[in-house]
Amino acid sequence: MDIQSLLDDIAGSVTPHIGQGEVAGYIPELGAVSAGQFGISVATGDGEVFSSGDSDVPFSIQSISKVFALALVLAGDGDRIWKRVFREPSGNPFNSLVQLEHEDGIPRNPFINAGALVVTDRLLSIADNPHTAVRDLLRTESGNGSIGIDAVVAESEARNNNRNASLAHFLASCGNLDNPVEDVLDAYVSQCSLAMSCADLAVASSFLARNGLAADGSAVLSPAQTKRINAVMLTCGTYDAAGEFAYRVGLPGKSGVGGGIIAVVPNNCTICVWSPGLGRSGNSVAGVAALDEFTTRTGWSIF
Ligand code: DON
Repeated sequence: MDIQSLLDDIAGSVTPHIGQGEVAGYIPELGAVSAGQFGISVATGDGEVFSSGDSDVPFSIQSISKVFALALVLAGDGDRIWKRVFREPSGNPFNSLVQLEHEDGIPRNPFINAGALVVTDRLLSIADNPHTAVRDLLRTESGNGSIGIDAVVAESEARNNNRNASLAHFLASCGNLDNPVEDVLDAYVSQCSLAMSCADLAVASSFLARNGLAADGSAVLSPAQTKRINAVMLTCGTYDAAGEFAYRVGLPGKSGVGGGIIAVVPNNCTICVWSPGLGRSGNSVAGVAALDEFTTRTGWSIF
């Protein structure tokens, strides 16, 4: 398989999709990002990285951070989190308030915002350095010690965070937050505002394709925990478009409103795509098209 030629081909063939959709305007600073960008990187299990397009441009990882926060909580705390968060697709937008009240403050899954707030709350309770834990995991796993928060995006999100504040206060009213709402929101915004490139994110996600093993052979997660995170990514990682994503791409995936998506080919490789234009459910239009073409041409899907 000539992965480099394939990625160059894909970067060409998705051109008509680049700029389609809407850049996330509800976080004003994300709305300022130029839509005409596209990057793709593949990190193989044996440490090779192939890239094409704007693969070295850092972008706001947003909800992709939720995978790494969940990994830290599962690694540190085992299955306890599942008493406080379900693991079913929501069929609703990622920041919906409606279902949470019907279901008594137990979020449908850890990747919608309500679920991620509960995971972040648990991280605050168990991590040694909770405010930097996700950043530190991403630095270690990518090998790039300069990864950090985009402070302008963080401030923009913090100033326009009424929806997440509503979710957090409702969770607290149901007894499903242990830490003060403001602390949980602050840590959540910090995670979402981390900036990384496709190349760094593909490498940082590699443990998900290696049964939980980091590049140096140490275990980030057990094989069973890795299976479970990948399963929740498949069913919930792209929100109310998870069915369409499974149909088109056929891999566990996690999107963010910065326009990035990571996808995992178990026991083979990880892929990260980025293009800021989003479809209705908040997933990158060109990114999904690129992943569709990648798995269709390689046959590297779980189906
Ligand atoms: O909380 C928010 O709305 C954003 N920080 C993250 C949402 C997100 O990335 C959803 N993903 N597609």
